[in-house]
Amino acid sequence: MTVPMTLADTLTNEEKLADLDLDTLKQLVGLVEHDAATDPFPVNGWDAAVWAVGNATQTSHFFQSAFGMELVAYSGPETGNRDHVAFVLRSGGVRFVVKGGVNSSSPIARHHARHGDGIIDIALEVPDVDKCIEHARAQGATVLEEPHDISDEHGTVRIGAIAAYGETRHTLVDRSRYDGPYLPGYVARTSGFRKRDGAPKRVFQALDHIVGNVELGNMDEWVAFYNRVMGFTNMAEFIGDDIATDYSALMSKVVASGNHRVKFPLNEPAVGKRKSQIDEFLEFYEGPGAQHLALATNDILQCVDVLSAEGVEFLNTPDSYYEDPELRARIGEVRVPIEELQKRGILVDRDEDGYLLQIFTKPVGDRPTVFFEFIERHGSLGFGKGNFKALFEAIEREQERRGNF
Ligand SMILES: [Fe+2]
Repeated sequence: MTVPMTLADTLTNEEKLADLDLDTLKQLVGLVEHDAATDPFPVNGWDAAVWAVGNATQTSHFFQSAFGMELVAYSGPETGNRDHVAFVLRSGGVRFVVKGGVNSSSPIARHHARHGDGIIDIALEVPDVDKCIEHARAQGATVLEEPHDISDEHGTVRIGAIAAYGETRHTLVDRSRYDGPYLPGYVARTSGFRKRDGAPKRVFQALDHIVGNVELGNMDEWVAFYNRVMGFTNMAEFIGDDIATDYSALMSKVVASGNHRVKFPLNEPAVGKRKSQIDEFLEFYEGPGAQHLALATNDILQCVDVLSAEGVEFLNTPDSYYEDPELRARIGEVRVPIEELQKRGILVDRDEDGYLLQIFTKPVGDRPTVFFEFIERHGSLGFGKGNFKALFEAIEREQERRGNF
């Protein structure tokens, strides 16, 4: 298969270092052709998901021990950072930066006090920071950081930042002139943590999508924001008000960068008989924020087995889901026996392009807010629309247990 230049050129350095080639990435996250030359806000891909947490030291350990990620860089008082500690973790093309304030006046500590553990920055790698910031400004975005260079002995990074929903931001990073471990101010760091014998090198390879929850009535405004400010397009699976169980409901629409490298589903609560899961998020996160991160894996069975053995908890899927003849007929043949999926509670959905396997963790912090999805795509570019009802019923069972339903 020949690799089209427009896509090949967008592989980030991190992805190349992680031995990700374009065909693999295409399969993992579902890419489409796109002409970057006409894009008002060209995006290469994800740069990092940056977290503010209550204890970065321990969260860093969790992502290593439970998620199989690798510690690669660090910033903190020892490197001259008097505000917070930050640990940079990698798995394939995925980069998490986990930050914790070292005193109460740190902006990280203040973010955490209000929102709990969560995503403060969905950073994107772009080829031209100035062009993006100028376009964003002209389209009415709030510029939080003007484009500027930061340098160290590894080179120069150009960055700028714009505001997104709630207190979330998008830092835009051009690291084409930089070969350090993360950003100036960070030093390379490894960890004494050793994986268990026989553990795979990594259990997920790429970031597929990050979902944002916004208040009732604001979803279309944020869809329009990403259309206008970042030139993102509405994806085919542009789902309206059809996501409801008997009790609670939400609305969701998906915007994506030109080649679908970066995908942002946006949810808002809808009125139902009981409290929407989005309302629960907004209440406990104390405002809009990133709800879940979907990590793409080429072996979801292994991924779930490894994470479960480390104590990561997933939402349960009832046996009735797998025994439903309608579902069996709809999904047809998938690469593994349904019984293997059932054992692990993995969901499956099929559309005209192919199918996907997916599973969701329970919230990973103390508040019922941020959680993860693991997704194995086989041609499908969707988000598991056919599973929403089963998934939401599982979430509602958890909400009920927390007394928030
Ligand atoms: Fe998702």
